Formats: sequence, structure tokens, C-alpha cells
Amino acid sequence: MLKSLFNRWVFLVLMISVLVSLRRTPEKIVESETELTHLIFSVFLQRDLAQEDEPSSGSTLYLEYDYYRETCPEAEKIVSSRMARIYEASLLVSAGLLRLFFQDCFIRGCDASLFLDDSNGNKSYLIERQAIPHTTLKGFDKIGLIKEGLEMACPRVVSCADTLALATRDGILLTGGPYYPVFTGRRDSIRSYYQEAMAGVPGPDDNLNRILQLFSVRGFNERETVSLIDLVRVYASDDGTTFRVDFATAMVKLLILGVLYGSQGQV
Ligand SMILES: *[C@@H]1O[C@H](CO)[C@@H](O)[C@H](O)[C@H]1NC(C)=O
Repeated sequence: MLKSLFNRWVFLVLMISVLVSLRRTPEKIVESETELTHLIFSVFLQRDLAQEDEPSSGSTLYLEYDYYRETCPEAEKIVSSRMARIYEASLLVSAGLLRLFFQDCFIRGCDASLFLDDSNGNKSYLIERQAIPHTTLKGFDKIGLIKEGLEMACPRVVSCADTLALATRDGILLTGGPYYPVFTGRRDSIRSYYQEAMAGVPGPDDNLNRILQLFSVRGFNERETVSLIDLVRVYASDDGTTFRVDFATAMVKLLILGVLYGSQGQV
């Protein structure tokens, strides 16, 4: 049933409302057709920009809406139904996944590098998950449960990075948070980044100035940073519209940070 809500048109309308919020106050709606065209164009521009950030790999794959519609048509439905069940049993899962998602995306983009154990059993090789800012993360097992459902339906098709991105979005919706569009087609990293996570992820003891600085390096402004931090840290039930719109905008930005395409990553 959720699936029918997430059809292309609803998506476009939602995407437009997010883009509108980039330019003006949330109360205003799109008035002219020219503006609408401009905004739709922006959706594609955003995709192209996301792609250009990556060194050319000759890959023809892009992030797109419902990327798995042919290869795993039930994918988003599986994620949302499993998330709904997990959420029923544990309301805190949404906050846990949001933090997990955020900290994975922060280093080299949303590539599930946080999930990867590339140590090959070498105990002195530290993986990203062992970095200090990550030691209190929760929800790895929940992503495992969702991924299990996906693997049963379509083995080795849906990336872990997309699973996390979709599950996080659904988790936020389940708690009554803002909706934001999630493009799919991410690939998973083939290595984890312990050192970068130690140096670049805001830790529990960092002050606001340091956090703002770490975010601005990645192209986030102060407002976006503060709304992300608020949600990630407190999972606040602030229902101010501006906050929700800022949050959705920041999430959309986070979702396209340094994405891996095609042969740059794995599934
Ligand atoms: C194990 O990891 C350490 C730290 O990265 C590295 O110096 C060492 O060469 C690795 N050992 C093997 C057998 O790969």
C-alpha cells in the first residue's frame, strides 16, 4: 500500500517541495510553470552533479528514483514492511538507524563502508566500525534483518548502502518525521575507513564549533548542520515547519555525498 503512495508523481511533487525549500520559505508554493520546469530540471541537475563529483569510470549508472523497479521490484516494499515490524518491537530503532546512516555517509558518502569488515581476520587492522565516534552505534542487526529479506527476494541485487538509506527514511516516517525522497542505485564500498572516521566524524566530545567546521568541509551550512545534529542527537519532536524542511533538505544533500556508482563499488 505504501508503494502506491511512492509513485513517480508523488515523488516529483515531494522532490519539488524540498527543492522549493532551498530557495524560499516553506509556506510558498510553486506558482508559475516556468518555475516548475526549472525545479524539475534541478532534480536532474542534482543527479548529474552527484555523478560529476566522482572520477569518470565509464559507468552509465546513476542514482535514480526506484532504481530497483526492474531488478527487484519489491525492494522498497520489503524495506518498509520489515521496518514497520522492527519499529513496532523497538521504537528506538529509527534514532539508531539515523545515526548509523549519518555516520556512514559522513565518511566518503553513503557507501555502507561502516558495515564492511575488510580485516580478513587481521586483529591489528582496524575497521571503520571500531573508530571511537562509532562505538555507541546501534542497529547493525536491524539492517541485517532487512537485508536478509531483500536477499531472499532478490539475491545480491540491493546494496547495503541503499538498504540503510531507505530504512532510515522509513524509520523517520514511522516516527512522524518529515518525508524526503531517496534516490537509489548506490554501491557498497570495497574498503572501510578507520583513520578517516577517527579524524572526520564528529565525536561525542566535540563542541559545536568543531562540528560546524567538520560539516562545512562537506558543504553543509550552519542551519542544515544544526537541524541534522538536533535530530541525530536528540531525535527531537520539534514540529516546527522550518526545522522539518531544513532537515529534509540536509538529508537530501547527505544522500548524494560521494556516491559510488557501478563498478566503483560492490553489492
Ligand atoms: C595486519 O594489519 C596491520 C595494520 O594495518 C598491518 O600492518 C599488517 O601488515 C597486517 N598483517 C597482515 C598479515 O596482513
